[in-house]
Amino acid sequence: MVMGEALVTGAGQGIGRAIAHRLASDGYSVTVVDRDETTAKVVANDVDGRATVCDLSDSSAIEELVTSVRKLDVLVNNAGIFPPSPLKDLTAERFRHVMDVNAIAPLLLTQRLLPLLSDTNGSVVNVASMASKVAMPGAGAYSPSKAALVSLTKLCAVEFSHSGVRFNAVAPGGVLTEGTAQYTADPDRESRFNAVLPLGRRGSPEDIADVVSFFASPDSRYITGQVLYVDGGLSEATIPFLRAAQDGG
Ligand SMILES: NC(=O)c1ccc[n+]([C@@H]2O[C@H](COP(=O)([O-])OP(=O)(O)OC[C@H]3O[C@@H](n4cnc5c(N)ncnc54)[C@H](O)[C@@H]3O)[C@@H](O)[C@H]2O)c1
Repeated sequence: MVMGEALVTGAGQGIGRAIAHRLASDGYSVTVVDRDETTAKVVANDVDGRATVCDLSDSSAIEELVTSVRKLDVLVNNAGIFPPSPLKDLTAERFRHVMDVNAIAPLLLTQRLLPLLSDTNGSVVNVASMASKVAMPGAGAYSPSKAALVSLTKLCAVEFSHSGVRFNAVAPGGVLTEGTAQYTADPDRESRFNAVLPLGRRGSPEDIADVVSFFASPDSRYITGQVLYVDGGLSEATIPFLRAAQDGG
């Protein structure tokens, strides 16, 4: 069954790629958006979709992207960057760059694609992060940018309520992707982490994609303005992590 048209940003790898695969298997025709042309084309080919190269930190590139879209049922704002940066060294320029990709690009895409989404009573799914709720030291503008994205999700749900479009966010915890591989390479650290995590394992991109699929589908027809933490319980496990730290891991 053809479900309609979906556009997924940052779909060349990691969580975005899994979302593209899941929405394609749900029956959507998927536009794979990424700044990396090679990976975007591979994924588009795999899902029988379309690749569009766009650097989402560039508002004129976003303008070009939206003019190429004719019909849209599902917009997934997944692309995000998390460059490490101690707060004391964070420049306004680097702060703005993270905000551009993680929060401003989702806003611009939503604004410009809203008429098309409204025509189909569509759904916008923003990929936020557990870091929107808990401070992530060393990640610079990342937590503020994801908090902004969560706030934007709620604001859109209310301010664009008459559009017929639903707006929700999925907030992953720790997910193994190409982007996080460098932080998860040590097996001893990983097993200590998993031992304290309520669901006992780091997330997979598919764990996130399945929930995005739910928010895209009519099964979530009465949900808007919500954030679902898909984090294996990580964001609620302060006490077990504290105890592990006190006991020396
Ligand atoms: N992996 C995790 O543990 C985790 C946890 C919480 C939230 N998230 C969020 O999930 C999303 C995906 O994370 P991931 O781990 O799959 O990341 P990743 O780094 O593996 O993949 C991100 C993709 O986005 C693309 N991208 C980055 N900047 C772009 C830009 N300016 N324009 C266009 N494309 C761009 C990259 O080319 C890449 O294909 C991000 O928003 C991230 O913040 C991830």
